[in-house]
Amino acid sequence: MEIHVITAFPAIFESPLNECILKLGQKKKLVDIFIHDLRDHTTDKHRQVDDYPYGGGPGMILKPEPFFASIDFIREKHRIESPKIIFLTPQGKRFTQQKAIELAKEEYLIILCGHYKGIDERIRDVLVDEEISIGDYVLSGGEIPALVIMDSIVRLIPGVMNDLDSAITDSFHMALLDGPYYTRPKIFEGYEVPDILLSGDHAKIAEWRKQKAIERTQQRRSDLLERMDQVSTHSNADKS
Ligand code: ADE
Repeated sequence: MEIHVITAFPAIFESPLNECILKLGQKKKLVDIFIHDLRDHTTDKHRQVDDYPYGGGPGMILKPEPFFASIDFIREKHRIESPKIIFLTPQGKRFTQQKAIELAKEEYLIILCGHYKGIDERIRDVLVDEEISIGDYVLSGGEIPALVIMDSIVRLIPGVMNDLDSAITDSFHMALLDGPYYTRPKIFEGYEVPDILLSGDHAKIAEWRKQKAIERTQQRRSDLLERMDQVSTHSNADKS
């Protein structure tokens, strides 16, 4: 998989791409991540990427030319014919684990990071396939959302994590929140690990974990269970 990020603030990515899963995925050559500086694709001596909005109003707008030029550059230099182009914005569709699973199957992704008041609408109209938001709050740019999305995708690429089971049993992957886990010591300051986990009975442990995941989901995110009920009611209705 190849992921290209276009940003006016490339330095934000330096440390996160050199740690943990994002580093591991690149080191194992399972993903190549390229950060492109939007300013490298400007043509004026001030390397200006933004300008005032037509019609007036507060804030600056990212100009179209550097985005179009960056994408042409990526297509040509990396010989990519049909990348999936994503724009990160609070106006996009909410990012979910399901979307991460879907994006992890793409061969080429290009992520556009917005900044300032917004981007010229022609970038959206002509270049962008999909707009994604990581939640109902406003960040100062798309760089942190891009890192969030890359982390969630890269950990799903087969072979990146040592223990694939661990990604598969994560919260949300099963539409349930993950339950509790314990490690050594068996007793810590008087608090004990549940006996069942020490029993060696793997079927019973799996059943206990499932039960705990359901309880936790009921307590914290009952909306997820309601959604599951709706999905199964719909699919049963479809069958009849
Ligand atoms: N840019 C600014 N805020 C954002 C958000 N919540 N999601 C995605 N991109 C953003």
